[in-house]
Amino acid sequence: MKQSRSDEKFDALKYIESITAEIKAQVGNKKVICALSGGVDSSVAAVLVSRAVPGCLHCVYVDTGLMRLNETQEVREMYESLGLTATYVDAADMFLGVLAGVTDPEQKRKIVGEAFIRVFEAEAKKLDAQHGTIDFLVQGTIYPDVLETEKGQKSHHNVTLPDVMGLELCEPLRLLYKYEVREVGLALGIPENMIMRQPFPGPGLSVRCMGEVTQPKLNLLRRADAILREEIKKAGLTHKIWQCLAVLTDMRTTGIKNEKRVYGHVIAIRAVNSHDTSTAQWYHMPHEVLSVVSKRMTSELNDVVRVVYDVTDKPSATIEWE
Ligand code: XMP
Repeated sequence: MKQSRSDEKFDALKYIESITAEIKAQVGNKKVICALSGGVDSSVAAVLVSRAVPGCLHCVYVDTGLMRLNETQEVREMYESLGLTATYVDAADMFLGVLAGVTDPEQKRKIVGEAFIRVFEAEAKKLDAQHGTIDFLVQGTIYPDVLETEKGQKSHHNVTLPDVMGLELCEPLRLLYKYEVREVGLALGIPENMIMRQPFPGPGLSVRCMGEVTQPKLNLLRRADAILREEIKKAGLTHKIWQCLAVLTDMRTTGIKNEKRVYGHVIAIRAVNSHDTSTAQWYHMPHEVLSVVSKRMTSELNDVVRVVYDVTDKPSATIEWE
């Protein structure tokens, strides 16, 4: 596959035509496996490959237990409607086990990445036995992932997966920015609500749950995130914001619950707009929305006493907190 971007204005249909030819040339009629994550990138990559080499692709969705509320079920229904053949693996307990006691953000990323490839490898072996040898692995790596990893800013788990599977990579989006991936997805006829989904990091909620990742903390974060997304949707802002997220900080502060002084959690809310993820601007969220989110989080979530809003651009901050 091509190794550098062209300077021409991006044309999604032309891109689909040329990348389809490249996929055909690379894969031929060999077997391909793809890790679906529910995100735009892996979904667009999978649909491109499934159409370029019909019958050759089998997808695997690993439920890491680090997904948002009801996300796995929603994602599954979406893939079924796109006609992608997939196996769904529940590996939530395993991921929690390997993350136990880990607090360093880079360590979390590496551990999630390695655990992911291990589960995936086991599935690939089963598929190998059932359907004949698998030669290729499709990944939804996009250009900012490649650039940031090259610059050593972050270990994006989809470009540093340990090379243990002996599979050749097929990365049809490697030279595209996110907005280009979205144009390709829409041109492929993938539903708009799927294509306009906000980005979600590969390591999932593990990098939004600061400090050690535990089941009770994840459950709390999932509920906080659901409240945030619900209110953003009600306010009609979902597609006006590049990405919004709730972070369970690793900090306790004093608060008052049921007239008693308590020492509770702080949830941080972040919302940004961005063109290509390399830079981002904090979103000037309407105060009424922030107010409702804060009231709901502190009244519906027993352990939350404080909600703060992040007003930092990228740089200096990254979009995620870890
Ligand atoms: P940061 O936090 O680096 O994030 O400003 C930039 C964009 O990338 C997403 N992100 C990731 N995506 N694997 C991914 O596939 C990762 O490890 C990862 N880390 C961050 C983040 O949500 C944002 O959209």
